[in-house]
Amino acid sequence: MKFPKPTEMAHRLVGGALAEGGIAVDATAGNGHDTLFLAHRVGSAGRVYAFDVQDTALRETGRRLSWAGVAERVRLVAAGHEVMGEQIAAGDRGRVGAVMFNLGYLPGGDKTRTTEAATTLTALGAALGLLAPGGVATVVCYPGHPAGGVEAEAVVDFCRGLDQGEFRVARYGFENLVSAPPFLLAVEKRGRTSNIER
Ligand SMILES: C[S@@+](CC[C@H](N)C(=O)[O-])C[C@H]1O[C@@H](n2cnc3c(N)ncnc32)[C@H](O)[C@@H]1O
Repeated sequence: MKFPKPTEMAHRLVGGALAEGGIAVDATAGNGHDTLFLAHRVGSAGRVYAFDVQDTALRETGRRLSWAGVAERVRLVAAGHEVMGEQIAAGDRGRVGAVMFNLGYLPGGDKTRTTEAATTLTALGAALGLLAPGGVATVVCYPGHPAGGVEAEAVVDFCRGLDQGEFRVARYGFENLVSAPPFLLAVEKRGRTSNIER
C-alpha cells in the first residue's frame, strides 16, 4: 500500500461524503481535475459549481469536462471563491455535500495569480455555511512558497477555532520531507443526518 498524497486523500474523503445526485463546489477549478472528479461523483442528476479567477483555468476545466461528456452538470463561475455565498442558488445552500479547495497557483500558469489568505478564509467560512450535515470541505495547503506559508497558517488557525460541537477537523500530510510539503485540512459538518449511508 502506498500512502495517498494530500490531493488523493481529499478525493477519498469527499468521495465518502458525496452521494449521486448531490451538490458540490470546486472553489479553485484550475486545470479541472477536481471539478471532473466531483462531476463524476454527483452523476447526471447532480450539480457542481466551479470557481476560478482566470479565464485560462476555466477554459481548460471546460475542455476537460466536455471531453468527459459531463459539462452540462457543471456551472463554471468566473469569479473569486470569496463570493461563493452569493453564487450558489438559494435552494442549494445548506445542501452541499462537498467543497474542495486546492490552494496556490495554476500549475504551468501565472504564479502571481495565487489564492490569498484573506479571500480564502472568507470563502472557507461561506463554504462551511453551505454544507449539509455530514458534508465535507477539503483544503489542500501549499506552505512551500512565501504567500502559501502565510495562507496555510491562517487556514490552520481558522480550522482550529471551529466549534467542535459543529465541526470535526482532520489534518493529513507527510512529516519527514525536507521541503515544506503540501498538507490537507478536512472539515466535516456534524449533524444528526448524513447525506450518505455510513
Ligand atoms: C492549485 S490551482 C487548482 C488546481 C485544481 N483544483 C485542479 O484540480 O486542477 C489553484 C487555482 O486557484 C485559482 N484562484 C486563485 N485565486 C482564486 C480565488 N480568489 N477564487 C477562485 N480561484 C482562485 C487560480 O487561478 C488557480 O487556477
